Amino acid sequence: MKEQKSFMFPKGFFWGASTAAHQVEGGTMNDWSEWEKSEKRLKHLKKLKLIEKFGENNFISGMAADHYNRFDDDFKMAGEMGHNATRFSLEWSRIEPIEGEFDEKELGHYRDVVRSARRNGLESFVTIWHWPIPLWLRDKGGWESKKMPKYFARYAERVMRAMGNDVKFWITLNEPQVYSAESFLLGEWPPQKMNPSSYLKVFHNLIKAHIAAYGAIKKISPKAQVGIASHNMHFDASKRSLMGHIFKAVADWWWNFYFLGRINDYQDFIGLNHYFHKKMDHWWSGKKNEVFSDMGWRLHPESMEHVLMDLKRFKKPIYITENGLADEGDVKRPWFIIETLKHVHRAIEHGADVRGYLHWSLMDNFEWAEGFWPRFGLVEVDYKTLERKMRPSAHLYRDICLENGVTEELVEKYKNLL
Ligand code: BGC
Repeated sequence: MKEQKSFMFPKGFFWGASTAAHQVEGGTMNDWSEWEKSEKRLKHLKKLKLIEKFGENNFISGMAADHYNRFDDDFKMAGEMGHNATRFSLEWSRIEPIEGEFDEKELGHYRDVVRSARRNGLESFVTIWHWPIPLWLRDKGGWESKKMPKYFARYAERVMRAMGNDVKFWITLNEPQVYSAESFLLGEWPPQKMNPSSYLKVFHNLIKAHIAAYGAIKKISPKAQVGIASHNMHFDASKRSLMGHIFKAVADWWWNFYFLGRINDYQDFIGLNHYFHKKMDHWWSGKKNEVFSDMGWRLHPESMEHVLMDLKRFKKPIYITENGLADEGDVKRPWFIIETLKHVHRAIEHGADVRGYLHWSLMDNFEWAEGFWPRFGLVEVDYKTLERKMRPSAHLYRDICLENGVTEELVEKYKNLL
């Protein structure tokens, strides 16, 4: 059989990259920024000798990439990089710094952000909540509070009133699965709980919050397209052991499908964030030939196809809202992007309704508990000067966006990077 050489995507496909407020804006004051500076956190970092290794500033989001002030230049750059879409998040603590009091100036700021995106040829995918919460809300129990769905729907409604006319695609929640597990089960992120009952409470509050916000958004703007960004993994039981299959079935059910299934009558599309390939059996085998990111995450582009095919069951359009890797030297990113896109293409050929790909991330950013050292950006940020510089993969990705696919000529042009 002749090997396929070009992989062209459907007309109108969205190409772009994503960010999140706390990770790039700088100057945020929320439960995360406070936690970063807390005694408990510093003690923990010292105990693990992480301060020695990376320095204290690595773990403080501070000015981040100053995207709050530089959004216009950043979007101009994204437009010049061939993107026609962008995903970013709103910072709740700026918009509602005091309970029930919404800051018109900040809402105006985000309206400017959306308009700047449009001017630069980018369709906005706006995330309403990408993890941090305002301090008043933290003090009321945060996502464990029974009132959280109500607070969240009120915030979403206010945002809609301010920006509803300018935005079509809304993502209510980013990765509810990851947030609830890291913050309430594994104790890694604020508020650092390890409590299964808190975890389940938060998980179900997130479901309720999405449904309440969906209703509030649709009431104001029936045409708005609303979904979440779901973190789906490829649980791989390819060795066909019985145990592997049982682990896979349980993991798929709870992690990949439960949340989406519960909200399926209240979502117009699925946002997919995909990073992980998890072997459910024989996890010790094959290591020698495997490729890993700077964070030690296995890079397995085929997984994207599996995850997309699995999402067909929800019968909704899919936008890939995050996918990427920490790769400071940009050694693996060009290969990773091209191989992943081939698998997105195959999934589309096999009936998955995929309508966009947003790489994580537009630029280097503050990687939560890890801090600044992991470099996820298509664009490199010099944190001393805040200067931006396109990595080689950003050039390659620009050509993909402009061609609307991976062509044979493009692969030839960039063969030194692959
Ligand atoms: C999150 C991003 C994060 C990325 C890389 C995703 O789970 O939504 O905020 O930076 O993964 O870890």
